[in-house]
Amino acid sequence: MIWTSGELRVSCLILIGMMGAGKTTVGKELARRRKLRFADCDHEIIARTGVSIPTIFEIEGEEGFRRRETHMMDELTQEPDIVIATGGGVVLSPLNRELMRTRGVVIYLNVPPQILYERTRHDRNRPLLQVDNPRQRIEELFQQRDPLYREAAHLIIEGGRGNPGTMVRMIENALHKLWPTEPESELMRTLNVALGERAYPIHIGRGLLERADLILPQLKTKRVAIVTNDVVGPLYLERLRATLEAAGMQVAVVSLPDGEAHKDLPTLNRIFDMLLAERCERSTTLIALGGGVVGDMGGFAAACYQRGMPFIQIPTTLLAQVDSSVGGKTAVNHALGKNMIGAFYQPRLVLADIDTLSTLPVRELSAGLAEVIKYGLIRDLEFLEWLEQNLERLLAREPEALAYAIERSCRNKAEVVAADETEQGERALLNLGHTFGHAIETGLGYGEWLHGEAVAAGTMMAAQLSHQLGWLSAADVERISALFERAGLPVWGPRLGVERYLELMAHDKKVEAGKLRLILLRALGQGVIHGDASPAEMAAAIEARCR
Ligand SMILES: NC(=O)c1ccc[n+]([C@@H]2O[C@H](COP(=O)([O-])OP(=O)(O)OC[C@H]3O[C@@H](n4cnc5c(N)ncnc54)[C@H](O)[C@@H]3O)[C@@H](O)[C@H]2O)c1
Repeated sequence: MIWTSGELRVSCLILIGMMGAGKTTVGKELARRRKLRFADCDHEIIARTGVSIPTIFEIEGEEGFRRRETHMMDELTQEPDIVIATGGGVVLSPLNRELMRTRGVVIYLNVPPQILYERTRHDRNRPLLQVDNPRQRIEELFQQRDPLYREAAHLIIEGGRGNPGTMVRMIENALHKLWPTEPESELMRTLNVALGERAYPIHIGRGLLERADLILPQLKTKRVAIVTNDVVGPLYLERLRATLEAAGMQVAVVSLPDGEAHKDLPTLNRIFDMLLAERCERSTTLIALGGGVVGDMGGFAAACYQRGMPFIQIPTTLLAQVDSSVGGKTAVNHALGKNMIGAFYQPRLVLADIDTLSTLPVRELSAGLAEVIKYGLIRDLEFLEWLEQNLERLLAREPEALAYAIERSCRNKAEVVAADETEQGERALLNLGHTFGHAIETGLGYGEWLHGEAVAAGTMMAAQLSHQLGWLSAADVERISALFERAGLPVWGPRLGVERYLELMAHDKKVEAGKLRLILLRALGQGVIHGDASPAEMAAAIEARCR
């Protein structure tokens, strides 16, 4: 794909900078994410000549090497869809500088000499550093070359402190700012949750924390209150705050302690403390920035504060992006039951920024996949098949695969919620695996298993019961189990004892008039609400799926 901006080809990205600046590492990652070919100019020269760079220097001198370099750059920059890492001296030739600037986007990775020295001091393959005082040599080279890098560059990325992943994100953000039409926004998908007057958009894409244009139209006044937590805040708060403040917003913040254990009334009160101390008004918008816990608490606080203030969800876990941020269920836990104190309260906007998933622990990613797979099982066989084909892409966090899976999950959830906002009927299907799962979570003690893990093992019990009822074949059950396993999820429940399971399940919110309403599968892709399972049938399913 070639994106053009004036004369520049954004599909030809050229990394320049000193030796040790990270051009190869960053370039490879950049190429992987953008599906471009990666080429390292020095390596291409070595491959072409069959000798090392020190050898070329020895035989042909620096001048000879530079000639080869110009020739190689001329070739590489004519290739379509490429990221090129260059040698540190490429900018010495005015011809090279001119050639690069006119053929692609030149990105200077600017790393301070001290860090360059630390990174390169044990490297014997750098002929220019084989001197008595390499540190001084790096300083000198930096003084000489820094102005030339600056002259050649379209973008300057201050590196050194961040890891390569951070530098790649900085490059992508900068590219996006200069060319708003290129992939970041191309990737954005928007859905609508059709709830009449309370309808709202869900935007899914990359770099959305920087998109003031998506947030501002939803704000009533110039004030926002952000609720986040002590893990997510340090990662993403400043980015969001900078976006809002640059747009003239006044921002108040409360950061809650992390974890389900704090999803309670005393912690909720801290949000009210902040809102009152900051004199927030009913028209101030509350933004929840975090996973499902922050979203559920922020939403409930927004529902209650002055009888309801506008609310925006910025979910940062996969689970929150595909499930908890959409649909308006908000709650805190009570010592006697999970999510027992809450309200239905819809957000004005959901912004699912896929970039935030890059820092999510792998176990949390898997837990989110349990809910993604759920949509396939209850109402979207085609999506289930897509997941079977593409699961590894999701585990590798490929942005396009993630965007697709999140969009499709949200679309399923939005349709169900639009048809049954307050869970009088069809919405209950979203609870597949949850009744058995809650028994696992409570039985083991909260925090032992993640919610998504319990849902996966719980879904296997529901699948087993569906098999006992003659709805699913043994092969169907195996197919579900195989998919969960590939996603890194448990497919067997812990041995709590069947009696204990049944006792815990009887406390579930899905009990109506004393009858447990289970969600089962009539077929793959077809969930049903089943109110007639006998304790013996349930016991058999639990027994069969515990290890
Ligand atoms: N409202 C609903 O409809 C609904 C639906 C499903 C689940 N839930 C609720 O959601 C909660 C579970 O949500 P969750 O799985 O997102 O858990 P969570 O909010 O506890 O997040 C999981 C962990 O990941 C951290 N984290 C979040 N984003 C991160 C990021 N980008 N990078 C690194 N770490 C990050 C969190 O701080 C936390 O430690 C439960 O309380 C559950 O009841 C609500």
